[in-house]
Amino acid sequence: MEVVAGPSSPLLAGRIASKLNLNPVKTRYKRFPDGELYVSVECKDKDVAVVQSLNSNDDLIFLLLLFDALNDRNITAVVPYMGYARQDRKFREGEALSIRAVAKLIEYYAERVISVNIHSNEAKKYFKNLIEVDAMPTLGEYFKKEDIVMISPDLGSFERVKIAAKSAGCEFDYLEKTRLDSENVSIETKSISIDGKNVVIIDDIISTGGTIVEAAKFLLKQGANTVQVGCVHAVLANFALNKIYSAGVSKAFATDTVEKSISEISVAELISEKI
Ligand code: R5P
Repeated sequence: MEVVAGPSSPLLAGRIASKLNLNPVKTRYKRFPDGELYVSVECKDKDVAVVQSLNSNDDLIFLLLLFDALNDRNITAVVPYMGYARQDRKFREGEALSIRAVAKLIEYYAERVISVNIHSNEAKKYFKNLIEVDAMPTLGEYFKKEDIVMISPDLGSFERVKIAAKSAGCEFDYLEKTRLDSENVSIETKSISIDGKNVVIIDDIISTGGTIVEAAKFLLKQGANTVQVGCVHAVLANFALNKIYSAGVSKAFATDTVEKSISEISVAELISEKI
């Protein structure tokens, strides 16, 4: 087995290779003046694991080119952050079902797919040979010694937060959002008081940061002592981190499925166990 580091996941690929006592193979990536991308891989083994998160459209093209370069190998596609998973259904007539298109493309080349906390169960249905890794216990572990409560910003992430909280050994709850009319929503914690507590908001993805900003402002207004934020996938689009800190969050952290400044927690061990 050889490990190929895609251009979006060099650190994580290196960590996975090191856990498996392997050296990442030599790769070359470049962008032509017209924007087209180029890939070259020096790989000898018949079995390869390609590690490439999908956090941009270029990431997807790079993955496609990597697959082509390795066309005659047995490919394990390690896609730590599976982009396009939020378009997991046709919300309106005429829309593309994006994750179906992405799943078909990946599985055309790869014999199996390893990913971390894919956004929804619906999205997972489009893969035939998917191994999913759950980073929530690892996120929770990070807070084991702290006196905190974990809060899910919505009901959708509550099951994930329960798992993280179990591993942290702390109380947990979710924020209930009620739409009052087309412009106003009210938010409240479902069952526990957060007055004077140190709160950690846990979510699977931080994209624009809008969800976290709204939740953090609410929790601080309700008397939370501090608000920290943890997520699996730090997509962090459009200055999200600046917005989150401006909303009063004291610390934000994430796993290395998307490689950003806050990606302090590695999923390398979890992934290498599945390769
Ligand atoms: C929503 O279903 C997800 O779990 C995240 O809460 C959402 O994708 C975060 O997006 P944003 O950071 O843009 O609010």
